[in-house]
Amino acid sequence: NKGSYEHYMQKEIHEQPESLKTTMRGRLIRGGSCKAKSVLLGGLKDHLKTIRRSRRIVFIGCGTSYNAALAARPILEELSGIPVTMEIASDLVDRQGPIYREDTAVFVSQSGETADTLQALQYASENGALCVGITNTVGSAIARNTHCGVHINAGAEIGVASTKAYTSQIVVMAMVSLAIAGDTISNQERRDAVIDGLYDLPNKVRDVLELDQEMKELAKLLIAEQSLLVFGRGYNYATALEGALKVKEVALMHSEGMLAGEMKHGPLALVDENLPIVVIATRDACFSKQQSVIQQLHARKGRLIVICSKGDAASVSPGGLCRIIEVPQVVDCLQPVINIVPLQLLAYHLTVLRGYNVDQPRNLAKRELLN
Ligand code: UD1
Ligand code: M6R
Repeated sequence: NKGSYEHYMQKEIHEQPESLKTTMRGRLIRGGSCKAKSVLLGGLKDHLKTIRRSRRIVFIGCGTSYNAALAARPILEELSGIPVTMEIASDLVDRQGPIYREDTAVFVSQSGETADTLQALQYASENGALCVGITNTVGSAIARNTHCGVHINAGAEIGVASTKAYTSQIVVMAMVSLAIAGDTISNQERRDAVIDGLYDLPNKVRDVLELDQEMKELAKLLIAEQSLLVFGRGYNYATALEGALKVKEVALMHSEGMLAGEMKHGPLALVDENLPIVVIATRDACFSKQQSVIQQLHARKGRLIVICSKGDAASVSPGGLCRIIEVPQVVDCLQPVINIVPLQLLAYHLTVLRGYNVDQPRNLAKRELLN
């Protein structure tokens, strides 16, 4: 039921304040003074000791689910102190890459039924790893065949383009990071900041959704473009990949998400006064590096659209020439949840304006033709 919305993708983008609340419900524990205290993940609590002892955590998924894991990787590394590596499910299976008994393999999947991810699960399981699922679908193959896991509880996602599952997956993996960390004195301040950030997140997502009209106006400007680049780094490398995936998947426009640190190593050659480029430059430890990326793109007359924190317009727009999208600032590791929203809205409006099917992109029909 789409309610008052025209498309499921639109409905699912706009219900993210509620889906995030459902994801967190009952899992954030308040302390004595009513302050945030800790997380409780029923599905993991008996396995935390084993996970803490593992030599490596391997995230495995496809498409948007892989991107969500990539967004959560920095906070998991920081809070657990365990090396975290990334695997696209099909690539792990193609390579038969090394997976050991001392590994914790985390399978991220909205549907819980993706064939590539299931094959990787069978492979990791045969190699003796502890297999953990993060899925939206109770009773799915991944939920059934993992040793333990966490349901993201985002509610059914109908649109082929994954939106609310992405943000709920990131939130669950941030909670998993907190659970693995446990509460030591040394990490208490950081943990409190992340937990406070989680409590506040649904309201901040509601604020960022107010960009809807602004993103529609931007979509009008980009409607006839051939291509859109998206540059991000650090916590928001994943945002660049995921924003570009949404644009290509539903708006059928070529788009590439790129690591800004790689700009000089090839992509810079593409920059001219015609190609639109989104740069994600919200406040975090990488901010000044992104400022210099913007300067270098500007020096080559790049057509820049900059996503920045509220109040930062003047710091990210050389000569006032960039188009600016200001978003609310949250704790750095949760900023990807905020930053993806304007890009989801952009992909949605581009698709409608270009006259394509929002909820069932043409690639399904195309695949039948190819077969
Ligand atoms: C569970 C109940 C929830 C109830 C809550 C009350 C279910 C599905 N969830 O939620 O309805 O309100 O207790 O305390 O009944 N699992 C996997 N692989 C996965 C995902 C989950 O093995 O990919 C396992 C978990 O390890 C756990 C079970 O499935 O044993 C349920 O997981 P989850 O729904 O996340 O647990 P709770 O949040 O405790
Ligand atoms: O159900 P899953 O999360 O396992 O699906 C993985 C990908 O197929 C999926 O995320 C795909 O990339 C989305 N359609 C992107 O919007």
